[in-house]
Amino acid sequence: MAKAIVIYETTYGYTETMAKAIVKGLKEAGVDVELKRALSAKADDLKDVDAVALGCPTYHHDMITTVKTFLFEMKKADLKGKVGAAFGSYGWSGESIEMISDTMKHIFGMEMIEPGLKMKGTEVLTGEKECKEFGKKIAAKIT
Ligand SMILES: Cc1cc2nc3c(=O)[nH]c(=O)nc-3n(C[C@H](O)[C@H](O)[C@H](O)COP(=O)(O)O)c2cc1C
Repeated sequence: MAKAIVIYETTYGYTETMAKAIVKGLKEAGVDVELKRALSAKADDLKDVDAVALGCPTYHHDMITTVKTFLFEMKKADLKGKVGAAFGSYGWSGESIEMISDTMKHIFGMEMIEPGLKMKGTEVLTGEKECKEFGKKIAAKIT
């Protein structure tokens, strides 16, 4: 059975809502999936997975610190050739998603789902279907 992990951080819950819907999409597509916050995720969590989705909102045109720190933790794992996906909620610029995608692609050598999924807070409230579809897109690459 294909395995995936969805890791995220959030301040007001929007990126968490996206993460949970992406998990639903992956599950519906038959993937064994775990959900974790970046603060508690470790390189070991990435060992046996086929795909990693990493979610982060954008604050002050940047990722939040826990996700930046987690990217250094991720560097300890061998992720070359694994499927990667970035997502997150934003207000107007949403740089975090591209920053994460770039790092996963250029530093870890992952095969990215591009573009990543970025949604404004208001879109997240009605966006479960779109997030589930994104999960299914990830699933299609590993099943
Ligand atoms: C202090 C502050 C700074 C923000 N800076 C940005 C920003 O630079 N670019 C952007 O697109 N959104 C920005 N936002 C909007 C958040 O990214 C948006 O509210 C998002 O939905 C929060 O997601 P979360 O609930 O997962 O933390 C900012 C919000 C706050 C409160």
